[in-house]
Amino acid sequence: MKIVQISDIHVGSQFREEVFDQVIDEVNIIHPSAIIVTGDLTNEGLMQEYEKCKAKIAKFKTEKIIAISGNHDYRNTGYLLFKKFFPFESVNQLGSNVVLATLGTARPDRDEGEVGYRQNLWLERTMKKYPKKIKILAMHHHLVGIPDSGTDRVTVIDAGDVLRTAISSNVNLVLCGHKHRPWIWNFGNLLVVNAGTASSERMRGFFENTYNIITIDKNKIRVDLKIVGGKTMPLQNLVTNYTRFGEE
Ligand SMILES: [Fe+2]
Ligand SMILES: [Fe+2]
Repeated sequence: MKIVQISDIHVGSQFREEVFDQVIDEVNIIHPSAIIVTGDLTNEGLMQEYEKCKAKIAKFKTEKIIAISGNHDYRNTGYLLFKKFFPFESVNQLGSNVVLATLGTARPDRDEGEVGYRQNLWLERTMKKYPKKIKILAMHHHLVGIPDSGTDRVTVIDAGDVLRTAISSNVNLVLCGHKHRPWIWNFGNLLVVNAGTASSERMRGFFENTYNIITIDKNKIRVDLKIVGGKTMPLQNLVTNYTRFGEE
């Protein structure tokens, strides 16, 4: 099974429309079972941005699109619009052996993320229902800090609680966005994956628009980074062959 993770589209200012059109073409060739969009679909949460983004996303050929909100989508009372434009379920069964749960971390007019006590409890109870499945958790804000992405914003403010729940619930994969910096942390049975930005000019540390391709074969999970218009490589390569931009 293939799942594509796209993040931080940012329709509005700094949106690279021709790049996103290329993402649509490339992803349609892959024809994934599902596409997960991990937030910041719009730049300012405005009606025109939502309309344009919805029309673009309708061009993807896939069985299921799960789009979750980011802090930018919640600006200017965009939180009132998000669910109208991008309705989704919090728990999604993909194929016969994968379950994907989403957490809402965006709060109106705030840039930092929060999961909260109740949602964390919900997550714990939900994941317990699927002991045999591969468990994926998707959220907009990053769960663990990422290099070269600045110190102005911390992770979700209750990251420790969520990380504990993820590990004790045997979550296999966490998908995050927000920092516009592709990265992967490997904690043994738990992979924490960050997507870069698919189509915003605002890149950090890795200066290409990218998205992630997740391949699940029986119980094995592989995560590849796809540079828009460029090569595909294991996301782990970014970590293993780490260099700061401009240094060799
Ligand atoms: Fe973003
Ligand atoms: Fe964000």
